[in-house]
Amino acid sequence: MNEGHLEFLASPGWAQYLETNLLPWLEGVADLGDDVLEVGPGPGLTTDLLRQRVAKVTAVELDEQLATALAARLAGTNVDVVHADAADSGLPADRFTAATCFTMLHHVESPDLQDRLFAEMHRVLRPGGAFVGVDAVDSELMRAGHVDDVFVPVDPATFPARLEAAGFSAVDITVDESQLRFTAAKPPAA
Ligand SMILES: C[S@@+](CC[C@H](N)C(=O)[O-])C[C@H]1O[C@@H](n2cnc3c(N)ncnc32)[C@H](O)[C@@H]1O
Repeated sequence: MNEGHLEFLASPGWAQYLETNLLPWLEGVADLGDDVLEVGPGPGLTTDLLRQRVAKVTAVELDEQLATALAARLAGTNVDVVHADAADSGLPADRFTAATCFTMLHHVESPDLQDRLFAEMHRVLRPGGAFVGVDAVDSELMRAGHVDDVFVPVDPATFPARLEAAGFSAVDITVDESQLRFTAAKPPAA
């Protein structure tokens, strides 16, 4: 991420936005359970939101510096930080009660890698577990905010089919001018 972007994601303004915008939605859409995966925590303000509400959070971060800083900041809490690619996490299959990703999918470098990440979320969720997230939609403003940075927004029109191809059911997507929000479920065991 570029420096300005990183600074913003660690700011009190972003923490406030998450409390007033993300949290009410998150609390209404799914029971996250007690063993929650977060992919792409960055500086970890979304991790803070989760860790105050669930028993255990595992946060998978690709960027080594961000992962190291977050692990140091949250040492001794209910958060484990893993430095890994969320598309190939090395975490056990069928473990997590929910998988979450907040404003990170557009940082995954290609649609193919995003599809691999969806398949990995399906693999590590326990049957019946929820996959929930939010992400930016394509706009001039968002492009301007990602100069010298990765910006591969997910197309809301094809997103449901991509999640279903990864094995998810009960896919629900809402889109406004700046954001998409989604929920999906790994089908319960037969
Ligand atoms: C824009 S930040 C979002 C941070 C945080 N979720 C928030 O909303 O404040 C996106 C983060 O996703 C991470 N990321 C990108 N691709 C990833 C991958 N394949 N696996 C794990 N993390 C990834 C980036 O390094 C970055 O820290």
